[in-house]
Amino acid sequence: MSERVSDFRSDTVTRPTPEMRKSMAAAVVGDDVLGDDPTVQELEEKSAKMFGKDAALFVPSGTMGNEMAINVWSRPGDEIIVEARSHVYLYEGAGTAVISGVQVCPIETSDGVMPIDKIRASLRDSTDIHCPRTSLVCIENTHNILGGRVLPIDYLRLLRAFTSEHGLRIHLDGARLFNASCATGIPAAEYAALADSVMFCLSKGLCAPIGSMLVGDSEFIERASRVRKMLGGGMRQVGVIAAPAIISLDSMVDRLEFDNERCHQIAVGIAELPGLLLDPKTVETNILIAHLEPPAPSAGELCEALEARGVLGLPLGDDTVRFVTHHDVDADDVARLVDAMREVLRG
Ligand SMILES: Cc1ncc(COP(=O)(O)O)c(C=O)c1O
Repeated sequence: MSERVSDFRSDTVTRPTPEMRKSMAAAVVGDDVLGDDPTVQELEEKSAKMFGKDAALFVPSGTMGNEMAINVWSRPGDEIIVEARSHVYLYEGAGTAVISGVQVCPIETSDGVMPIDKIRASLRDSTDIHCPRTSLVCIENTHNILGGRVLPIDYLRLLRAFTSEHGLRIHLDGARLFNASCATGIPAAEYAALADSVMFCLSKGLCAPIGSMLVGDSEFIERASRVRKMLGGGMRQVGVIAAPAIISLDSMVDRLEFDNERCHQIAVGIAELPGLLLDPKTVETNILIAHLEPPAPSAGELCEALEARGVLGLPLGDDTVRFVTHHDVDADDVARLVDAMREVLRG
C-alpha cells in the first residue's frame, strides 16, 4: 500500500485544523453543567441564531442529540414515524426503544422523501385502546444511506402543514443540513422553521473534533437539557471542544460547496464503469452510494483493492459502497479515487 491515504470512508474522519487546535488551548472555560462556560454559551447562542430558534444545546454526539429529541417529543408506548434507512432507525442501537420506550413505524423510500399519503396511512387511532399514539415524524436531511439526498423544501412545507393539522412534532436529523443548504442555497433557518427540533453535527464536514447541537424552542431545550444530564451527557470544562466548534460555524460552512462539487465529479468519473449502478444526477451533496453487480467484485473486495492503491471507501453490506468527500480530501485525492476505481473495475 502506498504511504499517502485518500480517506473517503466518511466526513467524520476530518481532523481539527491548526486554528482549531490553537483555539482549544486558549479557550476560556467554566463548568457547563453549572451553566457558566462562556465558550459553550457563545456556541449555543450562535447556533440558535443561525437556525432561527430560541435556544441550542451542545451535545457530545449526533446520536445523543437525536435520541434526546425523541425522548422529549414522545411518551413510552408511543409510535414514531421514521424513514426505513434513517440513522435513528438503523444506527442508534435501538435507542428509541431502550431510552424512550417508543415503537418505530418505518416507511420505505428511495430518496428519503416519505410520501404524505403513506404517513397519513401510518397514523394510529389514539382513541382506540389497542393502538399506540403517533407522536413524532423523524426526517433526515441530507439522507446518509440513500446517498446524501436533499429533501425538497416544498415537500417539507407540505409535511409541516400535515403534522400541524394532526398534532405531530417533526424532528430533523440534520447531521449534514449545511451540505443541503450549500446545494440548494436555502439557509439552515428556513429548513429549521419547518421542524420542531433540529440536530446538526459539528464533527462531520465542519471539521470539529467532537460534538453536535440540538436546537429548538426554549421549553424544548429546557426539557432536552434534563434528558442530556440523565444520559450522562452533561460536560464540565467543555469550552475546550466548543471553541473549535465555533470556528466550524464561522468558517467551515460555506466550503461544504466544494465537498458537494467534488462528490459529483467522482460520480461522473465512475458512473459508466462495468458493474457499478450509479446515477450521477442523484449525487446532490457529499455522499456517494453506489451499488455493485457482476462483473464487479463485492463491496468488501472492491474496498480491499482500493486500499492497496491508497484509497479508502466504506463497504455497506456485500453490494453497496460509500464514498464521502470532506475537508481532508482535495482534487488530487478525487483523481486518485477515480483512477483506482477505473483500474479495479475495468480489470
Ligand atoms: C444522518 C446521521 N445522523 C446522525 C448521526 C450520528 O452522529 P454521531 O456519529 O455524532 O453520533 C450520523 C453519523 O454518521 C448520521 O450520518
